[in-house]
This record gives sequence, C-alpha cells and structure tokens, in this order.
Amino acid sequence: MRAHLITYGCQMNEYDTHLVQSQLVSFGADIVESVDEADFVLINTCAVRGKPVEKVRSVLGKLRKAKEHRPLVVGMMGCLAQLEEGQQMARKFGVDVLLGPGSLLDIGKALETNDRFWGLAFKDELHDHIPPPPTGKLQAHLTIMRGCDHHCTYCIVPTTRGPQVSRHPDDILRELDTLLAAGVQEVTLLGQNVNAYGVDGGARLGGYPSFANLLRLVGQSGVRRIKFTTSHPMNFTEDVAATMAETPAVCEYVHLPVQSGSSRVLRRMAREYTREKYLAHIADIRKHMPDVVLATDIIVGFPGETEEDFQETLSLYDEVGYDSAYMFAYSARPGTPSYKHFDDLPREVKTERLSRLIAKQKDWSARKNAGKIGTVQEVLLRGDAHDANFLEGHTRGNHPTVVPKVMGITGAGIYQVRINHATPHVMYGKLLDAQGNELPELPKHNPEAAALSAPLAMA
Ligand code: SAH
Ligand code: SF4
Ligand code: F3S
Repeated sequence: MRAHLITYGCQMNEYDTHLVQSQLVSFGADIVESVDEADFVLINTCAVRGKPVEKVRSVLGKLRKAKEHRPLVVGMMGCLAQLEEGQQMARKFGVDVLLGPGSLLDIGKALETNDRFWGLAFKDELHDHIPPPPTGKLQAHLTIMRGCDHHCTYCIVPTTRGPQVSRHPDDILRELDTLLAAGVQEVTLLGQNVNAYGVDGGARLGGYPSFANLLRLVGQSGVRRIKFTTSHPMNFTEDVAATMAETPAVCEYVHLPVQSGSSRVLRRMAREYTREKYLAHIADIRKHMPDVVLATDIIVGFPGETEEDFQETLSLYDEVGYDSAYMFAYSARPGTPSYKHFDDLPREVKTERLSRLIAKQKDWSARKNAGKIGTVQEVLLRGDAHDANFLEGHTRGNHPTVVPKVMGITGAGIYQVRINHATPHVMYGKLLDAQGNELPELPKHNPEAAALSAPLAMA
C-alpha cells in the first residue's frame, strides 16, 4: 500500500497523524509525498473554524473525482470525522474509512475491511501506543492528555475530542526516553489544557502527578528544552510559574490564550476568569520569570462584542505586551452553545476588527524583537534557511531566527547567537563560540552567479 496523509488543524493533529503513519508503516505501507502516487489518502481534519472544514470539503471533492479514474481508498480522521457535519460530508463524497480522534488505532481493522469502515468510539489503548520519533528531527511533540473538560461557548473541541483523559506518567516518560534516544533536544508537551494534567477522575484515582510535578519529572530526563501548549488561565497556578523558573530545561515561554480583554465577553464565552484575574496570572508569571516570552490566542467579533469590548481587547494587549498571538475572527460552529444562543456579527465588522488587532500585534512584535538586539539567545538550528547561505531555527521563546553559516556548523543543534537585527517576524544574529566571540562566517555563495557560471564549468 502507498499511503499519503494530509493534516489540518493543531499540533495535536500533527501528533495524531504521526501516530497513524507509524501504524501504517508497521503494516508495511510506504508513505508517499503526493496524492498521485498514493492508493490510500488519509485526511486528518479540523473543525475548529469554518475555514478548515471548507478545505476538507474541497479536498474530498477532488478525491472523489480521482476515484472515478483509478482505484483509490479515501480516509478521513480527526475532529471533523467525529461530527455529524463531517459524517454527512463523508457520505456525500464516498469516503471509505472514517476514524474519530478516539479511534485512530482502528486503522488496521479499517484497512482489513472490504466495506466502508466508520470508527467513532473513544478508546483507551491510544494511550499505550508510542509512535517512533521522526528521524533526524531535533524537536518533537509529546501528547500528555486528550480531550477537554471546559465548555467555552464558541468551541467544538470538547465535542470532537471528548472529556479530558490524562496519559499515565510512565507512558509519557517512556515515550520521552524513545525521543531522547533518537536525538530529540526539544520536546513540546501537548494537550488542550495541559495545566489541568492529572486532575481528571482516572488520573486522580491513579495518583498521577500535578502538571508542575510532571514538568519537574520531564526536567530530570536530560532533555535540553521543554515547552508546553496550551494553557487555560483558570488552571495556570503560580506553582507552575515557580516550577518553570526552577527547572532549567523549561523554556521561559508561556502561551496563555486570553480570547478577549472584556470581562463581559469572557463571561459569555464561559472562560471562567475576568480580565483582572487574567492580568493577575500574567503578574504572577512575570514575578517568577521577568523575561518571559508571552503569546496568546484571541477571538475578535464574538457575538454581541461591542466596539467598547473590542477596545478592551486592544488595551489588554498594551497592558500585557505579547511577543506573538494567534488571532481569529469568530466562526460560528454548529453544535456549540454560542451557535444556538447568540447572533453572529456582520463579517465586515469581524474582519475590520481583526485587521486592527493584527496591526497592533505587528507593532508589539516589532518592539519586542527590537528589544532583543544585542542580547545572546539560545537557538535551536534546524538546517538551511530559504537562502542557503544562512541557517534557521528558533529561540527558547519561539522567535524564528536566522544566522549566516560558519565553518563546522551544519545546522542541527543548539547554539548561542548574538542578535544584531530584527523584523516583526524574524530575528537575525551571529553564531558565538564558547567564549562568546562571533565565529567567522563562510564566504557567501551566490546562487545567481553560480547558475551563470555552471554552463562554463560544464564546457
Ligand atoms: N485548548 C486551547 C484552544 C484550542 S482551539 C485553549 O483553550 O487555549 C485554538 C484556538 O482557536 C482557541 O484558543 C481560540 O482562540 C480559537 N477558536 C476556537 N473556536 C473558535 C471559533 N468558533 N471561532 C474562532 N476561533 C476559535
Ligand atoms: Fe475549547 Fe475552551 Fe477546551 Fe480550549 S479550553 S479546547 S477553547 S473548550
Ligand atoms: Fe482543530 Fe481538533 Fe485541533 S478541531 S484545532 S484539530 S483539536
């Protein structure tokens, strides 16, 4: 079998694709890079906003056409597959295999069945399965929990992924060992609400550690860098901030989605905190980590959001000063409470507010990045940048960073870099030796000149 996998959605979906891919490989499948080469195409879907849903619809349409010309098995997995909306789509486009986020390991059974196979149960075995790390990668994701016990009124995730289930700490640490043995240096712990790790019923009965204690355990493993996402402000205790500060491998980076700066909107979103409470969390975090890098998620144009509410989001931005943000226009999702109860705002209002917010974030990113000029940052380099005279990577605070190549460094590893230039999106710097001196750059290779001289060289 030649399988091609397509992934939409968040990092948890990327992790799940990886998990299913490793299952397929264990059945002897070859993983191919394009639909044309494949006889099995599996789409991992997202349902959080209208856009990803529409993307899946259009891909399924194309695949149905392809099926008219050649034998092709089409599969759909992930969040949209769990919803009636996705199942209708699957029927309409003749999808053969459908797997919800809790049934991914049914992939084997699905492929043995000659008939249409739909798996939608939430099963526990997922938690025992360890996908091998992607080869040659220095960074890896590690899912520590599934599902979500919050009920934010705009959000479909609790419906698609079910209630929160924490993974057993031994499973997490075993998977971490596999990653470390494969050379991984940065691990991102994943969950919809990682700070609530260990508080679900089964975890409590099993005596699982708190999230802060899990961070300590992961910190003792020898991994160089630890990040985690996402945090819900309600569950972000000061203990976590203190543990982050005390555990050298944990990066000084916190992604703490606020969603809105208006307490009135937050109440209607059922976020369970006020603007003041959120700001108190930020103050706690800064008390323990004065140089912390902060990121957030924002929804603009939630039903009933007034211009005054939106102004409160803008002013919260100026009070916090985020390094980066994921900003979204509200998208009404069938099946969520806000879909039923509240009227949507006109699209123009939402897009206009979104563009004002994006402009503000760009200002802050520019300011924050410029503030790093002259500092030394620890950068995990992945390899060549777009221009092959340079290497690219990211800091402990997740800032994309670019450096000119030097002798002896190929680009895979963690290095010290002095920042000397910054744009809102990228920081530039020079690689340093152990004494903090800049390493001599390699002479620049000019691809245009090389292309011109190539025919001569051949002659
Ligand atoms: N569990 C994470 C978020 C998961 S969804 C958390 O609570 O932080 C990722 C982001 O998508 C959310 O933070 C929110 O900003 C956005 N989002 C979720 N539902 C949305 C909707 N209906 N419309 C627009 N954005 C949405
Ligand atoms: Fe959705 Fe809220 Fe759960 Fe995040 S915490 S996944 S936004 S319901
Ligand atoms: Fe999308 Fe599911 Fe992630 S809805 S954002 S893929 S949890």
